Amino acid sequence: MRIVFLGPPGAGKGTQAKILAKELNIPHISTGDLLRQNVSENTDLGKQAKDFMNKGLLVPDELIRQMLIQRFAKPDVKSGFILDGYPRNLNQAETLDDILSRLKMDTDLVIDLKTSESVIIQRLSGRLVCSRCGYNFHLTNMPPKREMTCDACGGKLYQRSDDKEETIKKRLAVYAAESAGLIKHYQDKNKLYALSADEDPKVVLKKMLQLVEKRNDSLKV
Ligand code: AP5
Repeated sequence: MRIVFLGPPGAGKGTQAKILAKELNIPHISTGDLLRQNVSENTDLGKQAKDFMNKGLLVPDELIRQMLIQRFAKPDVKSGFILDGYPRNLNQAETLDDILSRLKMDTDLVIDLKTSESVIIQRLSGRLVCSRCGYNFHLTNMPPKREMTCDACGGKLYQRSDDKEETIKKRLAVYAAESAGLIKHYQDKNKLYALSADEDPKVVLKKMLQLVEKRNDSLKV
């Protein structure tokens, strides 16, 4: 199954994508994670992307396109994937269609995670991320068992530099400006399913698995 996650910053895309990818045994591809890795390794791409990310702006489409083409060249995507954080505008959606069609693939399911601004601010201002495995925690919603230590791998937890209130507001404004065209693109293709992301992650997972099953059945017909 080839799945795209849409939704504003803090909707829970990364959290849910990691769990669903494990359930379905397919790779989780997050453009945000790939970019942060490039920034921490100080690659050319990381150097070019850093300022945009710290300001809450989108990194230029062409840079992301090149990064994605490299990721899709890896053989693990043959089994399917969950794409989290891409596309973010209509141009990126069209680019994705093009990349996939060259690989004789298509998107099967697009899940739009819906949540309110107040929930987003609460989630992002308390988010903790593992510096080693990238797993997400939250100071109050999903606290780690040991302070600032990842339950999964023992890595040190940190707060993302773009999780400051001012940058969160900028990221939300960018999402609001760019998402309408994106949503229409997938509505027109009959691939878009909206889900409330305000519930407990286990409840959200259950609903996503039901969607995947339903979509799998409809693809067989
Ligand atoms: P990216 O890393 O993709 O950030 P984002 O889209 O802003 O999304 P987030 O990662 O902030 O939120 P999320 O929805 O994944 O929420 P999470 O699961 O962590 O991108 C960062 C930057 O990179 C962009 O601003 C841009 O500059 C650049 N970039 C990336 N992709 C790009 C592209 N395609 N084009 C151009 N530029 C690009 O959850 C948040 C918190 O809530 C966590 O603490 C979690 O524990 C908690 N939580 C999650 N779900 C629940 C729940 N159900 N109940 C309670 N708490 C929950």
